[in-house]
Amino acid sequence: MNDGVATPLENPLRAGLRLWRTPEPCTVVIFGASGDLTSRKLVPALYNLARERRLPGGFSVVGFARRAWDDATFRQVLLEGVNANSRARPVEEALWASFAEGIFYHRASFDDPAGYARLAARLAAIDATRDTGGNRVFYLATPPEAYPEIIAQLGAHGLNRSPEGGWTRIIIEKPFGRDLESARDLNRQVLAVFDEGQVYRIDHYLGKETVQNLLVFRFANGIFEPIWNRRYVDHVQITVAESLGVEDRGGYYDRAGALRDMIQNHLTQLLTLTAMEPPVAYDADAVRDEKVKVLRAIQPIASEATVRGQYGPGSVSGRPVRGYRDERGVAPDSQTETYVALKLFVENWRWAGVPFYLRSGKALPRRVSEIAVQFRRVPTLLFASTPVNDIEPNVLAIRIQPDEGITLKFSSKVPGQAQIRPVTMDFRYGTSFGVASPEAYERLLLDCMLGDSTLFTRRDEVEASWALLTPILESWAAGPAQAFPNYEAGTWGPAAADAFIARDGRAWRRL
Ligand SMILES: NC(=O)c1ccc[n+]([C@@H]2O[C@H](COP(=O)([O-])OP(=O)(O)OC[C@H]3O[C@@H](n4cnc5c(N)ncnc54)[C@H](OP(=O)(O)O)[C@@H]3O)[C@@H](O)[C@H]2O)c1
Repeated sequence: MNDGVATPLENPLRAGLRLWRTPEPCTVVIFGASGDLTSRKLVPALYNLARERRLPGGFSVVGFARRAWDDATFRQVLLEGVNANSRARPVEEALWASFAEGIFYHRASFDDPAGYARLAARLAAIDATRDTGGNRVFYLATPPEAYPEIIAQLGAHGLNRSPEGGWTRIIIEKPFGRDLESARDLNRQVLAVFDEGQVYRIDHYLGKETVQNLLVFRFANGIFEPIWNRRYVDHVQITVAESLGVEDRGGYYDRAGALRDMIQNHLTQLLTLTAMEPPVAYDADAVRDEKVKVLRAIQPIASEATVRGQYGPGSVSGRPVRGYRDERGVAPDSQTETYVALKLFVENWRWAGVPFYLRSGKALPRRVSEIAVQFRRVPTLLFASTPVNDIEPNVLAIRIQPDEGITLKFSSKVPGQAQIRPVTMDFRYGTSFGVASPEAYERLLLDCMLGDSTLFTRRDEVEASWALLTPILESWAAGPAQAFPNYEAGTWGPAAADAFIARDGRAWRRL
């Protein structure tokens, strides 16, 4: 297998073999290995895969960064990272000792060709001593400005090539571009060096169990799909709310904003999985073909169909929060949005005329992500004492995080009274399965090693999503400055967002 693409028959979910497949021996090379993502997410995920015996024998990690560390320092830093961030704690000493034997630190700068020549030699030595067969995953956990340089250097040193009978793959972190043009440029740079089948553009939302369950919920049950369309659905609300502000990422965030940081990737993924047609198979191309079709069916979004916000000082859960403009790395007159709400239409036979409302913001009262499908009201009044408008419509809410689960709201008679009240049927992962879900990065790292790119973003998908959102960014930039801040930290965003949905006779869900 040279191109790194899983065929449908190999697909482990389809074959029901997920638990039993182990990747071939390989080395994961992490660029940006002294950074936050590596010790907070990547290495804890790899450690948990090791703990669950999912990793191949000889599995190795090479960390690439500038800091004057050696293998021992790097291992110690990672151990602290795992101890602080792993879902299974404390670290099992014997397991860590054997896992850490395969961890190495490579000190070099991204722009130094000699560093890549030494890397190639080092990887060859690891192949020889640990029997990793020349199989490699390169993980770009670096500031995005570094991607083109690293990719070009990998190409120049022949590190892009798959070994005879083996594979080389590259995982690229978000953000993938900052608008359509830069995303296209980056795709060109990547694809000048790697084949699309080697490229894994990561959006960690797709690694979440609840997000994957969306497809199982829709396509492994007979009763929902027949009503999953414009005849029965009034509208859909997708919310990704964060209670934190920008913390210490102000410098990065001030150049990004909520549309780039959240809507372009995580909310777009939730939208496409909610709206897509059933794929012909559960494999990388069939699933991604359907997601791209959704993006192509979305009508251009006028800037009037969007609301922007930026938080000022306030408090979240009793904790005082500085205003966005007072955060480190943020311009004192910043026009960057920390909140976005928008409305879009997927103009195809299934969804024509059904609004999808998306909202995401920082410094909101709660951290919560959900997809809510609200069904049409009943057509007529049967119960004289209750006006039809007082009967709340059915809502199917899929909670992505926290309290992962699914809730169906329906009307019920209040016992002994001539009254109707909404009640819910609840499914909760925690209660039903009693096991902790693996972290998103565990699943995604494993899938990449197995050559399954279903849960990664394809070139056309990332470009289609930027094509949709870039005109909004452009019209915001060309328009007048906003009177920011316009919402207090710890509230549900600007008043304009409530007025925006109220104009359609609807309201945001209270979460
Ligand atoms: N952190 C998160 O939770 C998170 C979540 C989602 C996505 N991401 C994405 O993941 C990527 C990494 O994020 P991060 O937060 O881990 O970044 P970070 O903490 O700023 O780490 C950057 C890393 O890059 C290295 N580096 C920078 N310039 C270098 C150079 N010229 N040569 C060699 N090494 C260099 C740094 O090493 P030295 O300082 O040792 O040189 C450091 O290891 C970003 O694209 C980010 O958007 C992060």
